Amino acid sequence: MSEQTRRSLTAIVLAAGKGTRMRSDLPKVLHRIAGRSMLGHVLAAAQEAGADRIAVVAEPGRQDVTAEIGRQAPGARVFGQAERLGTAHAVLAARAALEEGDDVVVAFGDTPLITGATLARLRAPLAAGAAVAVLAFESDDPTGYGRVLTEGGRPDGRVLAIREQKDASAAELAVRLCNAGLMALSGEHALGLLTRIRNDNAAGEYYLPDAVALAVADGLDVAMVPVAEAEAQGVNDRVQLAEAEAVIQARLRRAAMLGGATLIAPDTVFLSYDTVLGRDVVVEPHVVFDTGVVVADGCVVHAFAHLKDVRLEASVSVGPFVRLRGGAVLGAGSAIGNFVELKNARLGPGAKAAHLTYLGDAEIGARANIGAGTITCNYDGVSKHRTTIGAGAFIGSNSALVAPVTVGAGAYVASGSVITDAVPEGALAVARGRQATKPGWAEAKRAALLAKKGEGKKA
Ligand code: UD1
Ligand code: CA
Repeated sequence: MSEQTRRSLTAIVLAAGKGTRMRSDLPKVLHRIAGRSMLGHVLAAAQEAGADRIAVVAEPGRQDVTAEIGRQAPGARVFGQAERLGTAHAVLAARAALEEGDDVVVAFGDTPLITGATLARLRAPLAAGAAVAVLAFESDDPTGYGRVLTEGGRPDGRVLAIREQKDASAAELAVRLCNAGLMALSGEHALGLLTRIRNDNAAGEYYLPDAVALAVADGLDVAMVPVAEAEAQGVNDRVQLAEAEAVIQARLRRAAMLGGATLIAPDTVFLSYDTVLGRDVVVEPHVVFDTGVVVADGCVVHAFAHLKDVRLEASVSVGPFVRLRGGAVLGAGSAIGNFVELKNARLGPGAKAAHLTYLGDAEIGARANIGAGTITCNYDGVSKHRTTIGAGAFIGSNSALVAPVTVGAGAYVASGSVITDAVPEGALAVARGRQATKPGWAEAKRAALLAKKGEGKKA
């Protein structure tokens, strides 16, 4: 076993920010990117990086934040930070976690683009003996960031300290090497360094980056790990939220394409963090994959489809213009066409609904054909009811199936029927007025009407 895998790692995620600039009733870290909260993205990265334990520092009493932590990282411990006295103060709110002596990596809940691979790179120098590792990038516009001060001012020089913007001298402000904020601390030294950080600075805050100068003063090693500036980007307002969304969408599209799906116009396809697209899936332009979508190999998703909580089995074709949701399952080789909505419906293998149809709370048998304009009337104003259609059944166009109702295997429902009673297997159900045809009626009627109009004018 390598040194690194033997050392236990605790990830501490700081999430106590107010997020005032979001102008939102929702805590900043709960705003979503690609269907998952920013906090969820960071927790996932911590898990990918191999964190053995996770601690989150949050504003006390935020049930919504606690619930999200429970969903995204079951078993994570939540610590409250009542007063926001700085990033080092926030980390020390999780003191009980630090006391366990694991290596620590500190991440921010509002820095959602950071990847698990980067957090893993950040912790790696600890195994090689570093007491602290800082994540850094060079920026053409370093304003606002803490500056990483190195020996001789060289980008490859030994790290000496991190200076916050507010405390920096003119010479320090010219430094372009920036602190990304995230930091790794060895289990042996973390608590000793953090508890010695003071707040005698311009902001009157306890700065986490001050751990660097303290470690250097103790003669300990401080490592610097490079990161792309874009990945270190924080989200403070909704403009930055949209920018982060664009970055994550680009990553998801790339992964989908490298995984064997064709996205004809990738910039117009929106994916969720959990979207699964199989091999040889073709996605036409303007498709939204909301959360909970699994598309098996060989499916075609035509333009303007919206999918949420749905599974497409192999070689299914959907769209254009479809809405699939609520746990719908489309069996292998089934097809649905334009303006079809499925909610909590299961379509058997090879079944088809080609046009203008709503199938809700329904079970459709294999190879059944659902005609244009078929509606399952699943709601009586109070409760939802199920419609069951057997294998090979044929539902004529413009039929209403008033649930709860069943249509047996192989049965026919005549076009324009309103079906309220069970249709047995192999039967025909006709539930509409019988056609009456009166030869010559229209001509006679028109003549009578014209004659009447002529009389009116004379009078
Ligand atoms: C921090 C770094 C700075 C770095 C920058 C990168 C410090 C002092 N400075 O500055 O060197 O260049 O990140 O973006 O760390 N938080 C709490 N409780 C607190 C304070 C902060 O939970 O008491 C959380 C915030 O919600 C946020 C994160 O910690 O998620 C960072 O805090 P923030 O105030 O944004 O730090 P910066 O000023 O950006
Ligand atoms: Ca920040």
